[in-house]
Amino acid sequence: MKKIIIANFKMNQTPAQTKEYLVKFISRFANDNIQPIICPPFTSLGIAQFITECSPIKLGAQNVGDEERGSQTGEVSAEMVRVSGAEYVIVGHSERRVKFKENNSVINKKIKNSLKQGLKCILCVGESLAEKTALKTNEVLKKQVNECIKGLYENELESLIIAYEPVWAIGTGHTATIKDVENAVKVIRKEIEDLYSEKAGRDLTVVYGGSLNSINAQRLMQAKGVDGELFGGASLDVDVFLEICNKIR
Ligand code: PGA
Repeated sequence: MKKIIIANFKMNQTPAQTKEYLVKFISRFANDNIQPIICPPFTSLGIAQFITECSPIKLGAQNVGDEERGSQTGEVSAEMVRVSGAEYVIVGHSERRVKFKENNSVINKKIKNSLKQGLKCILCVGESLAEKTALKTNEVLKKQVNECIKGLYENELESLIIAYEPVWAIGTGHTATIKDVENAVKVIRKEIEDLYSEKAGRDLTVVYGGSLNSINAQRLMQAKGVDGELFGGASLDVDVFLEICNKIR
């Protein structure tokens, strides 16, 4: 299976900058072993769809509304995300959980709406520094996984990627160790196994994210049970991200 490499641009890149980035990325991307999924801001999805058509790159949105339509000023629905060219959507990113007060039940609604529209979800889970220090990592991960995917059928897990993103590692320069990642991935898979089946736990796609860069990406990709990686800061410079993508085996 190809390794999944996700780029989360966050609130960066105008449509013109996204266009320039993608034109360069597509012309120099050369690695059949990976599947890149680029998640620009909503406003760049249209141009990104136009440019990435007939390329190996897939697109994702960074968020989605929790209602289907209606009086939701400023929100973007799953249907709007899909017709704008995204195949994936990131849900439950810690920046949304902390800054926009999104809880597991809102995230659960977002996932259900997105799956109904045929989108695939990249669900972010991860513990804070205080929770890590209090040795609560496993407990937090289990609860987040359990509550965020409540009510999903086993076959819907094919459309789910779970990203282990420890909050203390996001944008901080502190990366998790291989041991941290392997433990988290094991806990996540076991929770899916307990909720569904052994096969579901085994087949689930799990990626790691948090302060990845061109130096540590290759190493952390070797962590047992990891199917890919999610990049924030390091994905913003197209030359750096191309170097990472073209090197990963
Ligand atoms: P970072 O962000 O790579 O800049 O730490 C990762 C993320 O927020 O998903």
